[in-house]
Order: sequence, then C-alpha cells, then structure tokens
Amino acid sequence: MSCLTHQFLSVALMLGAAQLIRSYSYNNCIADAYSKGEGFKCINRKANNISDIIRDLPPSVTNLNVSLNQLRAIPDDSFIHLPNLQNLRLDQNHLINISQKAFLNLHQLRSLNLSFNNISQLDPLVFKELHNLTFLSLTNNTLKQLPEGIFSSNLNLATLIMGQNLLMNFSGIVESVSHLTNLKTLDLCFNSLTSLSHANASLPTSLKELYLCRNQLTTLGCERSFLVYIRLLDLSYNFMLPTVAFQGVNLKQLNYLRLRSTSVKVVEFLDTSDIDAGRVDFSGTGLSNDSLLTELCTLLKRKVKRIKNMWLGSNSIRNLTNNSLRHCPEITRSLDLSRNKLRKTTCLTFLDSHRDIKILNVEHNLLYYLHSCKNHTEIHVQELSYRYNRILSVSASAFYNVPHIKTLLLNINSIAFLHRYALKGLSQLEKLRLDNNLLTDLFKENFEDNVKLKTLNLRNNRISVIFNSTFLMLRNLTILDLGGNKITHIKPSGLDGLISLSKLYLDGNNLQHVDSSLYHVFQDTLTTLDLQSNQIRFLTETKESPFKNLSRLSDLKLDRQRPYGMTILPRTFFRGLHSLRSLYLTYNNLYDLSPDVFDDLTGLRFLNLDSCCVGVIKLRPGVFKNLRNLTELVVENMGIQNFSKQVFGNLTRLRRLQMNRNVMQRIPVDALQSLPNLNYLDIRNIPLSCTCKNILLQNWTRYDPNVQVVYLYNLLCQSDPSIKFYNFDTKVCFIDLGEYMFFSTAAVLFLFTVSPLLYVKLYWKFKYSYYVFRSWFSEQWRRFREEEENCKYDAFISYNSSDEQWVMDQLVPNLEGNGSSFKLCLHHRDFELGRDIVDNIVSAVYSSRKTICVVSRNFLQSEWCSLEIQLASYRLFDEHRDVLLLVFLEPISERKLSSYHRMRKVMLKKTYLQWPGSDCTDPTQAQDLFWNQLRRGIRMESRLETEDSTKCDDKTEHLETSDDKYYLLP
Ligand SMILES: *[C@@H]1O[C@H](CO)[C@@H](O)[C@H](O)[C@H]1NC(C)=O
Ligand SMILES: *[C@@H]1O[C@H](CO)[C@@H](O)[C@H](O)[C@H]1NC(C)=O
Ligand SMILES: *[C@@H]1O[C@H](CO)[C@@H](O)[C@H](O)[C@H]1NC(C)=O
Repeated sequence: MSCLTHQFLSVALMLGAAQLIRSYSYNNCIADAYSKGEGFKCINRKANNISDIIRDLPPSVTNLNVSLNQLRAIPDDSFIHLPNLQNLRLDQNHLINISQKAFLNLHQLRSLNLSFNNISQLDPLVFKELHNLTFLSLTNNTLKQLPEGIFSSNLNLATLIMGQNLLMNFSGIVESVSHLTNLKTLDLCFNSLTSLSHANASLPTSLKELYLCRNQLTTLGCERSFLVYIRLLDLSYNFMLPTVAFQGVNLKQLNYLRLRSTSVKVVEFLDTSDIDAGRVDFSGTGLSNDSLLTELCTLLKRKVKRIKNMWLGSNSIRNLTNNSLRHCPEITRSLDLSRNKLRKTTCLTFLDSHRDIKILNVEHNLLYYLHSCKNHTEIHVQELSYRYNRILSVSASAFYNVPHIKTLLLNINSIAFLHRYALKGLSQLEKLRLDNNLLTDLFKENFEDNVKLKTLNLRNNRISVIFNSTFLMLRNLTILDLGGNKITHIKPSGLDGLISLSKLYLDGNNLQHVDSSLYHVFQDTLTTLDLQSNQIRFLTETKESPFKNLSRLSDLKLDRQRPYGMTILPRTFFRGLHSLRSLYLTYNNLYDLSPDVFDDLTGLRFLNLDSCCVGVIKLRPGVFKNLRNLTELVVENMGIQNFSKQVFGNLTRLRRLQMNRNVMQRIPVDALQSLPNLNYLDIRNIPLSCTCKNILLQNWTRYDPNVQVVYLYNLLCQSDPSIKFYNFDTKVCFIDLGEYMFFSTAAVLFLFTVSPLLYVKLYWKFKYSYYVFRSWFSEQWRRFREEEENCKYDAFISYNSSDEQWVMDQLVPNLEGNGSSFKLCLHHRDFELGRDIVDNIVSAVYSSRKTICVVSRNFLQSEWCSLEIQLASYRLFDEHRDVLLLVFLEPISERKLSSYHRMRKVMLKKTYLQWPGSDCTDPTQAQDLFWNQLRRGIRMESRLETEDSTKCDDKTEHLETSDDKYYLLP
C-alpha cells in the first residue's frame, strides 16, 4: 500500500465518517457469543472502579456478569446507561459501600447477586427502583441488620438469600419481608439468630421455604401459627435447639423438616408435635442403634401407616438387622442411609418388611464386601447407590435379590475383584457406574445379563485389554466410557455387540493405533469418539482413514497424544468424515498440516488446533478451503507468522477466531474482511507492530461494526509496551502531501531532463559499470545464500544493544577466540539486511544449535527479547530440544522477573548462569569457571540437564521455586 493511498484513507477517516460508527470492542468486557449485545462478562479484570469496567457497554445489555473483580464501591448512577439490565452479578468483589442511587434506572432488573462481598450496611433506599427484582442474594457479607423498609418497593421478590452474615434481629427481618407477597424462599442460614420472636409482624403467606440452618437458636419463641404456611423448614445445626422449643407451634402443614445436629430428641418431639411424622428428616438425629430405631419406628407406626421417604443419614449406624426397621411404617419410596458406619448390607435383609422401596442410598459408609445374595427374598429397589464406600470385592450374584434395579452406582470404591457373575440377573439395568475403582479385567460373562444397559461407565480403572465378546450382549448400550484406563489393545471382537453405541470414550489410555476394523460394529450409530491422550503416533503417511465408515461421527478428539504427539497427521486421516462437527487436535507436535487434510470435513463447525504443532508452522494456502461451515476456529500458539487471505479466506461462516499467542507482526485487513461472519477475534499476545504496516488494522479493529476484538484497548505495541495498539501514532505515516508532490515532481523532472543527456554522453561507461556491478553482485549473492544454507551457527546471541560492550569485549573473545572456536551469530554482524526482523530472528534461532540470551534489565525491556525467548522456548517445550542458555549479567530480583512469565517458566525448567561481576571475592577465577560452564553448555546436545556449579560464596540467591534442584548460580 503506498503512502499516497494511506493518506487519502486517513483523510477519509478524519472527515469523521468512521467516528460515527460505534466500536464493537470493549475495554474490560467480552460480549457473549451470539447474544447480539445482550450478554457481557467482565470478570477477573483487575479494575476496582465499576465505571471503568462497564462504561463502554451499549444500552442493549440485559445480562451482565461483573464477578471476581476488586470493586469496593458502587457509586450513584453506575448503571444509568444500562436501562435494560435484567440479570446483574456483582458477587465475589470487595464491596463495602453501595450508594443510595447505585441502581438507579434498573427498572427491569430481575436478579441481583451481591454475594461474597464485604457489605456491612445497606442504605434503606438502595433497592428502591428495583420494582421487578425477583432474586436477590446477599450471601456471605457482614450485614448485622437490615434497615427499616429496605424491600418496600421490591414487591416481586421471590427468592431472598441472606445466608452467611451476622444477622441477629429476626423480628427486624420479618418486618422487612412481611409485605413481600411473592416471596417464596428465604434463606437465613449461617447467621446469629437466637430466636424466631417476631414482634407483631408475620411472614408473607406466600413464603414456602425457610432456611434457618447454622444459627444459634435456643428457642423458637414464635406465635403458634407463625410457620403455618411454610412447607420446608430447615433448622439443622442449631446445636442448642431443644425439643421444648416446638411446644405449641403449629407444624401441621410442613412437608419437610430438617433437624440434623440439634438437641431435639426426635421421639419426644414426635410425641408432642402435631407435625406429620412422615415429613421429618431423621438424618443426624443420633439414631445409632436398633433400640433407638425401634423406638422411633414404633411411634411412627402409631401415627402413620405408610411413609414415603425415610431419611436416616449421618446417624452413626453400624449395623442393621432384620429387626432394625421391622417396626417402621412401610417405606414406599426411598430410604437414605448415607454417611453412616455400615460395614455390610447382608443382602438388604433389613428391608424385608419394605420390599416395595424404590430408591436406596448407602453412600459414604464403610462397606467393603458385597456377598452373594442368592436365595434371599426379592426387594423391588430400582435405584441403588453404594458410591463412596470401600468395597474391594463383589461376589457372584451379589444383586440376585434385587433384579429390578435400573440404576446401580458402584463408583468411587476400591473394587479390584468383580466376579464374572457379579451382575447376574440384572436384566432391567439401564445405567451402571463402576468408574473410579481398581478393576483390571473384564470377563465376557460380566455383562451377559444386562441386555437393557444404556450407559456403562468404567472410567478410571486399570483395565489393560478388552477381550473378545466382553460387551457382546449390550445391544442397547449407547454410552461406553472406558477413559482413564491402561488399555493397550482391544481384541478383534472386543467391541462386538455394541450395535447401538453412540458415544465411546477411550481417552487417557495407552492405545498406539486407531484400529478401524474395531469400529465396524457401530459404524452407523457412533457420534462421539474420544481418543484424547493416548499414544497414537504416525511416522509415515497412511493409505486410508481409520474412521472411514463412521458415517455419523460428529465429535472427534485426538488431542494430547503422549509422549511425542501424533507427529504426522496423515493426509487421508479424515477422509469421508462429512458429518464431523467438532475436532480437537491440540498439543500433538505435528510437523505439518497438509493442505488437503481437512478437505472432507465439510460439516465441521468447531476446530481446535491450539498448540498442535512444532515451532513455527506455515499454514499452507487452501488448508481450510472446504470448511465452509466452520463457525469457530482456535489456532492459538501455533507460531503462525502470516495471517493471510489465502489460508483463512474461505471460512465464510466463521464467527469466532482465536489466534492469540502467535508471532505475526501484522494482520492484513483484507484477510479479515474476507471473513464476512466474523464476530469475535482474539489477538492477544501477538507481537503486533505499531507501524504504518498496521495502520489499516488499527482502524479496522476500532471501527468495524461487526467484530469484537477481545480486550482491544489493552493490546500493547510490541516495540513499546507503554503504547497501546488502538491509538499508536499514525501521523508519521502521512508525510505532508505538498512536500510529497514537490519531491516526486522534482525527481521526475530531473530524470526526464538529465538522463537523456547523460545517456548520450556516457552510454558505454554506464554499460560497462553495469556489467561489473552485476557480476560482483551475483557473486556476493551466491556466497550469501550458500552461507545461509549451511549457516549452522553454534550459538545465536540475543542481547540488548546496551550490553553490546560486554558481548564484544568479553563474550566474543572468550567463545570465538581463546582456544574455543565457536561460530556465533550476532545480530548486528550476521543478520541478513533488509529482511524482516522476525524472519531474521526465526532463521537465526533455527540455524543455531543454541540460543544464548544475555539477560539484563535492559534486555527484559527490549522489544525482541520476548520473541526470541518465545521461539527458543518453543523448541524447548514443544520440540523438546534444549536450545536455550540464559546468562544473567546482573542480579535481577524475583519480583522483577515475575512479570516475565515465559522467562520464569524457562528458568524453572533449567539452569542458568550468573555472570560473576567484579564485586565477587575472586572475580578472575569465578569468571574462568563461568566461561567453562558456558562452553560446556554450548557443546551439550539437546536434552535438559541440571548442573551443579561452584559458587562464588559471598552472594548466593535462591529462587523460590517449587522444585529446589534449580539454582540461581552465583
Ligand atoms: C459469571 O461469572 C462466573 C465466574 O466466572 C461464572 O461462574 C458464571 O457462570 C458467570 N455467569 C454468567 C451468567 O455468565
Ligand atoms: C451468586 O453468586 C454466587 C457466588 O459466586 C454463586 O455461587 C451463585 O450461583 C450465584 N447465583 C446466581 C443466581 O447468580
Ligand atoms: C476505518 O474503518 C471503517 C469501518 O470499517 C471504514 O468505514 C473506514 O473506511 C476505515 N478507514 C480507513 C482509513 O481505513
């Protein structure tokens, strides 16, 4: 683009056309995808001023999330420009003060979350305008009391959560809410209430759920009918609350009452109260043995014939016998025995008189063995959970007496032995969880009877081989999760029988191949295949796609193959996958992406290539050419140097593009403009240059009405981090037009008048000189190319010009001369002139065996250091080639370094050398040692190693690293 065009464009810009267009990018917020400016997240910003965060949001916002910031105050009129706000989250800040008119104008607000702040006081008028508020959370603040009339205009409030405060005055609270005729839920757990006395006020009749857990209630002290409309009452963890507290209180209408960890004696309580005995939760009420249980049951039976749900959790029950529950009224739906101390279930004989029970929960007990249960009376349980026990072994026919089970949860135990007939008879089973156990083998008889099984979860066991016919009878299985095992191979008929399978998870195993012959069974049904984190690797191209017949496959995960990555992605790998919707290929050390590898993925919507490849990768033109349906593309950290239309131009449906952490310095606007649906662009951590090359990009990012550039206003210039990309000075790009015209006209005139004269006079002289020059030049050029081709430097020295003296006086003589003849690459000496600096650096790093970074304070601030370190550490982390040597010229404090994350990461990974300055006790000797170590470092091949080193004993500084084998050498 010539300067002239620039100038005209800038004139157009200045005429103001563009200034009328509203920018689409925001300082501290990200618009939700597809929300058309209605939803915004402004979380985790360091800002402590609400207006800094939300000032630039459009009035269309309805959902706003400002969680996890450091706000201390909400001043008046903070949201005045957002009149359509419906949901507002301000939780997890440091709010102390909310001004009286903070929420002015929020007439539409429905939900307000102020939880996890430091609010100790509220202005009585602060919620005045919020007529439509239905949800308010003030959980986890330091409120001692509510000001009078605080909710006087919030007549629509349905849920009010004020747990975890310091509230003491219950009657004040009742007074504040008594007029809220829509209030349904009131949560006051974790406060300091001591009684429910309520002066003359009463709760609104709409209130159905009242949570009063973890207070200091010692009595209720309310009127007889005070709780008459409540359906759910939680009084748990009021340790001092005695039985007598309930005397004379009407609890007839309660549906559910929690009394856990109070001082209430349940038998006594039931005797005296008018509550429906079947509605009380007996968890945590000290019913630890048979006689207490029998006593309770006898009493219950006197009051009710049947009981729907029986809660007996957390009672320290060690043993249940045939007698334990015999005297209870018949339990018709569920029994909760979780968090007791049961060691065995003795085939559920304790349910002999409750055989129609549907749900049994025995989680969090001490079960260690499940016996055979043949010849026991049948129990009709449908859902059975033994999660969180210590079961080691499951015998044959362990569930023989419960043949109606549909859901069986055996996960999170220590099952090492599952008898081959353990699940015998479970012909109704639909969901089975065996994950997080110690299973090593599956037998073909294991699931023989479970013909109705739909979901089978075997994740996180120790299975290593899937033998033939293991799943042969599971014709209805749709989800099979085998992730997190040690599977090395699947026998040829290992997956036979799975004719309905839709989702197969094999991630986190040790598979080395993708065996297409296995998948023929479910080739018409499989939609999800997860092969993440196996050991799949290719070193050559393959003939055909291993997935070729999976015609319905829509999600495929192949990321993070251990330990080397996939290395080569065969060109035919994805042939025929026309239905694929999403594909993950991250962290695979790929060397190349062949331009036709994605050609068949015409249905792809989401593609993640984050860190997929080795070092700097050149994406080839046309690689994405057929991805016409792609809407989301992640190409983070791929070392992309050029963003071009030829590569990305075909993605006409693309909405979201994440390309942060790459190395391009400029992004051509025409390439971006060839993505007509682009809506979200993330270009953080790219060394964008703030020069005339990017002037169009600057304008585009600011004024394009369709594309949100994530945190645009925080993007910095690579050359000078004190300058922001969005407003770097572009004046220099437009030299004065008059001056320009004058000089160009003068030059043209000169040429036309003087050259014919010279031509005539000096023709032969010219011609001769021209040929001499040409032959000289081509010779130079040839030598130059040759040099570059073989340019295998021993080390590329990366340093800041202010340290040049040290480099020239110390480093060069000691490494190039002095008996050690290393070939060094120095930028002022060996860089190819006129070539892009980034290219130069890339080629220097890649044609040198090592990269030595001379680190000083100036180096850390220098513009190229981060790119060089980035490239060298690419090779270190991603190619596993140890190319980086760090030399510290001056001691630099840990605190100073902490802002250079990449550098610290490198430092944690390896040793680095500290130049012993002249203030060391014996500088000469220390320096000799230093050179020796450095030479050794350069000679050393590849792999990471930590060396010990002699110390210059007056100053040794340890870095606080998690791993103390790394030293900052003296
Ligand atoms: C708001 O941010 C929090 C914190 O990241 C997150 O958990 C929550 O899902 C977000 N809510 C919405 C509605 O986006
Ligand atoms: C309110 O914020 C808390 C704390 O971050 C969170 O746990 C809760 O889910 C939020 N509730 C709503 C409805 O936003
Ligand atoms: C700046 O961008 C706006 C919106 O994309 C466009 O209309 C205008 O022509 C651009 N100006 C320049 C100087 O490119």
